[in-house]
Amino acid sequence: MGEVVSYKELGLVNSREIFSKAVAGGYAIPAYNFNNLEQLQAIVTACAETSSPVIIQVSKGARNYANETMLRFMAAGAVQMAREMGSNIPIVLHLDHGDSFELCKSCIDSGFSSVMIDGSHLPYDENIALTRQVVEYAHAHDVTVEGELGVLAGIEDEVEAEHSTYTQPEEVEDFVQKTGVDSLAISIGTSHGAFKFKLKEGEEVPPLRFDILEEIEKRIPGFPIVLHGASSVVPEYVALINQYGGKMDGAVGVPEDQLRKAAASAVCKINIDSDGRLAVTAKVREYLAHNAGEFDPRKYLGEARNELVKLIKHKNETVLGSAGKA
Ligand code: G3H
Ligand code: 13P
Ligand code: ZN
Repeated sequence: MGEVVSYKELGLVNSREIFSKAVAGGYAIPAYNFNNLEQLQAIVTACAETSSPVIIQVSKGARNYANETMLRFMAAGAVQMAREMGSNIPIVLHLDHGDSFELCKSCIDSGFSSVMIDGSHLPYDENIALTRQVVEYAHAHDVTVEGELGVLAGIEDEVEAEHSTYTQPEEVEDFVQKTGVDSLAISIGTSHGAFKFKLKEGEEVPPLRFDILEEIEKRIPGFPIVLHGASSVVPEYVALINQYGGKMDGAVGVPEDQLRKAAASAVCKINIDSDGRLAVTAKVREYLAHNAGEFDPRKYLGEARNELVKLIKHKNETVLGSAGKA
C-alpha cells in the first residue's frame, strides 16, 4: 500500500460536472482504457488537440500490470502534459469494473477521482448493499461512483457472463435512489471485446435496444448513463491484423451510427478499450512485417501511438461529439 493521496493534489477532477454538461449538451465523454505509457500519451495528445474532456480508465488487471504507484504518477503526468500543450481539459482517473469495496477504497486512497463498482452479477439486494458501501466512502472523499444494472455478454474483467441480461428499466429508479450512485452502466446489447456479435453469412449487426434506453431515460430523466462494450472493432484494423499474421476472423463491433445515436441521448460516458488494442496490434504487426530487422520498441510502438492519436481524435470528433467541449 503506497502513500495516501487525493486526486485533487494530482490536478484531476471527478466526473460530476463533465457528466452534467454532457447530458445537457447531447454528447458523451470518452472513457479510454490504458495500461502503458504510449496509450496514455496518445489519449492526452488526441484529447488536448481536440479539446475534449476525457476519462482515463484502468481495470483491476491494468492496475496490477502498471503498478499502483506508477499509475498515480502517470495520471499526474497526463495532467501536466496536457497543461504544457496549452490545454486545460478536465481529466478523470477512473477505476473500470471494480469488483470489491477494498479495491475501490484502495484506488480512492491512491488518487483516483472516480470508481466503478460492478455488482451487476450479484443478486439485486447485494448489488445495492455493495454499491452503497462504495458510495459512502467515495462521496466522503468527493469521488464519483458508477454502478451497473444488467449484465453484458462476454467477459467483464474477471466477471464472466454467458448471456447478456438487459437492464430492467423498472429497477433503475430504486437502484439509483438506494445506492446514491452518480452514474449507471446499463446493458442494451453491447458486449466486451472484439467479438461482440456472432453473425451468419449476410447478417447485419443487430441494433442496440434503444427502446430499453428510452424507458430508462423516462424513469430517471437527466441521470448520467454509461455504455460499456462500445468499441466499433474497426474493420481496417482487423483486416491489417489478419493480413500480417493475426487470426481475428469474425471480429465485429458496434457500428458508429449506433454510438452517435446513444451519445446524443442520456448516454454520457462511452467506454472504449478494444479499438485501441486493435490499433496497436495492427500497427505493430504491420511495422514488424515490413521491418524484419528492427528491434527498437520506440519504432513500432511509435507507429502504434500515432495510429491511436488518429483513432481517438476521430472518436471524439465524429462519434462521441466531445471535441471542443472541454
Ligand atoms: O471491460 C474490460 C476492459 O476492456 C478491461 O479489460 O480487464 O483485460 O484490462 P482488462
Ligand atoms: P470494448 O471491449 O468494446 O472496448 O469495451 C470496453 C469497456 O467496456 C471497458 O469497461
Ligand atoms: Zn466495461
